Amino acid sequence: MASITLDHLGKSYTAGVDVIRDLSFDIRDGEFMVFVGPSGCGKSTVLRMIAGLETVTRGRLLIGDRVVNDLHPKDRDIAMVFQSYALYPHMTVYDNIAFGLQIRKMPEAEIKKRVQEAADTLGLNAYLDRKPKALSGGQRQRVALGRAIVRNPSVFLFDEPLSNLDAELRVHMRAEISKLQRRLKTTTVYVTHDQVEAMTMGHRICVLRPCGSDPNVSNLTQIGTPMEIYDTPANLFTAGFMGTPKMNLLKAKITDDGDDVLFYGVRMPVSEQFKAAAQKYKGRDVILGIRPEHIGAAHEIDWQSETSVTGAVEILEPLGHEVIVHFEVQGQTVSGRLRSHQQLPNPGEPITLQLRTEAMHLFDPRTEKRLE
Ligand SMILES: Nc1ncnc2c1ncn2[C@@H]1O[C@H](COP(=O)(O)OP(=O)(O)OP(=O)(O)O)[C@@H](O)[C@H]1O
Ligand SMILES: [Mg+2]
Repeated sequence: MASITLDHLGKSYTAGVDVIRDLSFDIRDGEFMVFVGPSGCGKSTVLRMIAGLETVTRGRLLIGDRVVNDLHPKDRDIAMVFQSYALYPHMTVYDNIAFGLQIRKMPEAEIKKRVQEAADTLGLNAYLDRKPKALSGGQRQRVALGRAIVRNPSVFLFDEPLSNLDAELRVHMRAEISKLQRRLKTTTVYVTHDQVEAMTMGHRICVLRPCGSDPNVSNLTQIGTPMEIYDTPANLFTAGFMGTPKMNLLKAKITDDGDDVLFYGVRMPVSEQFKAAAQKYKGRDVILGIRPEHIGAAHEIDWQSETSVTGAVEILEPLGHEVIVHFEVQGQTVSGRLRSHQQLPNPGEPITLQLRTEAMHLFDPRTEKRLE
């Protein structure tokens, strides 16, 4: 097993154009780290640098305490699983799993034992003689996983391994991969743009964004446990990216005495955790963040509320166990959550919902950072 260290890591495919800028953090020995971020932000690039499939332009990359910038991929003791599975179509499942060991000239008896163990773990025993084309997507993905685990590597790298699967199988396989990682305790980096996968699978999540052209901006926006990221997003990017439905991010103001937040006509007390910060923002614009689950109907909510907001319903999204209601308040769309399906309002009608003001998040609109 091994830790992975990114030390001011940078990558340019074209001279002068940064794709990855100044990425510095550690992935601990045995940790399941998820990289999440929008398409094109550089997740695969970082993963491929760790694997040795892309060169490092700047900074250092360490596996354990060894700098691996110039180390050949095959000497890194890493196994990677791709979205496309990349199975050999003419080989059986057994040979697909065994192939990496055969080219390393492992004794046939040891190969057999490892393939058998992997097949047991992954429920592939009945398929060992089949070719990949005779397998379902989920079974193929398990073969790709098997090929990685028989290698018994120090590090697993996953690049969106579940995105070709249907929704049900994705839920199943994400639990399987989590269980497998918890059992093997192999250091793992898992790339996804699905924030539900990120929340449910990772010990920690690293939220990335495109670094753009400003030389002071890194791709890293926040790193932390899933609940840290969810409960205390460090900036507007993370706040807006993590959570379904999305957090409301509303233009608001701190009152001149610093005691309240003013969201057009609605005045609400600054929550405990922002009291000190709000004193420094007296009379200034802020962004008020509040998740839809903290905006609800008076007869349905499980918190005490003195603050309500009224607007005109734009659209309802029934999700089965709840209904997300989007309504317009002075030109800004606010999303709230209704629990029951009784007496749903129609688009255009007014609705009044209660705010759980203790659950507010406040951000500086200029720096986009959470107030401290
Ligand atoms: N070989 C390459 N040459 C030039 N540019 C590249 C190359 N590979 C990737 N890029 C660019 O680098 C940026 C990051 O790409 P990368 O594939 O790492 O993103 P990603 O976060 O994995 O996106 P996705 O979620 O769509 O897979 C993109 O703008 C992409 O166009
Ligand atoms: Mg990618």
